[in-house]
Amino acid sequence: MIETLTLDPTASGIAKAADLLRAGGLVAFPTETVYGLGGDARSDLAVAGIFDAKGRPRFNPLIVHLPDLEAAETYAQFTPQARAVAAAFWPGPLTLVLPLKEPSILSPLVTAGLDTVALRVPAHPVAQSLLRAFDGPLAAPSANPSGRVSPTRAAHVLDGLAGRIGAVLDGGSCAVGVESTILGLADGPVLLRPGGVPVEALEAMLGQALASGGDAAKPSAPGQLASHYAPRAGVRLGVTHPEPAEIWVGFGENSVGAQLSLSRSGDLVEAAAALFHCLREADERAGPQGAIAFAPVPEMGLGRAINDRLRRAAAPRPA
Ligand code: TXA
Ligand code: MG
Repeated sequence: MIETLTLDPTASGIAKAADLLRAGGLVAFPTETVYGLGGDARSDLAVAGIFDAKGRPRFNPLIVHLPDLEAAETYAQFTPQARAVAAAFWPGPLTLVLPLKEPSILSPLVTAGLDTVALRVPAHPVAQSLLRAFDGPLAAPSANPSGRVSPTRAAHVLDGLAGRIGAVLDGGSCAVGVESTILGLADGPVLLRPGGVPVEALEAMLGQALASGGDAAKPSAPGQLASHYAPRAGVRLGVTHPEPAEIWVGFGENSVGAQLSLSRSGDLVEAAAALFHCLREADERAGPQGAIAFAPVPEMGLGRAINDRLRRAAAPRPA
């Protein structure tokens, strides 16, 4: 348990919140839709901490919050159409899913290893002030434990997350009350989630009807992973005695003699932060015909999300 500060949205409260974020901490902040649980989107440990605090059972990709379109263009490829949509609806309750600009300095946990990224420029003045004071990208899902309703007041955030996060910036109640609309523009416009911007307004702007996308919360089949995070090598799980030819990725006490380890001390937050980097590194070392063996990871806390991802990596996939 850590002490969760309640900060007023004054210059000093916002400066304190930005300091906590720079130190890798988590700060809940108001947006016009719902309160977000913010962490530095470039930090593997901060993003792993978001999943840990929320108790999320899988690593679905998170929305990256930025102060304006110019900052957003640092992280994603914008077509003229994407720029026009952004100009019409940002700042505001619209999220755009766009191709990631490589090389990316975002944690691969933010994008769940995909080669697209969800970007949003919130309009709430406190969110704007925080983003400008922090001067970096903030990953921010809704600030509630997984499976609970999204918070629209600081008190709701504290109900669910007190003791698990560094602070909440109290900006009163959120005007919109539902999450942002998510528009996929990576390959043709698709509606990935209805939300704060009416679909009709988007359709009028785009001049076309919008199809609804698949399950935006689970875009995580191995085939959708960026190629450098989708292992070509075979993957075995729960291995305590690897074959000599296997690249063994350890965890905790099963790290002795392992070429790589998710966490030698057996820390699940550290393991989550290391997961995508280990998948990539193990695959490079194993080569396309090679084999990777992961030591067992306990099915508790972030271990459930880690195992969910590893099971997908180990699942047979089309040749
Ligand atoms: O209103 C909101 O958008 C709130 C406030 C705090 O800004 N944030 C929010 O974030 O709802 P989050 O991280 O919970 O939204 C994540 C959802 C995923 O479940 C998925 O549906 C979609 O965004 N998403 C994120 N990245 C994606 C990607 N690369 N491809 C497809 N969908 C993506
Ligand atoms: Mg949510």
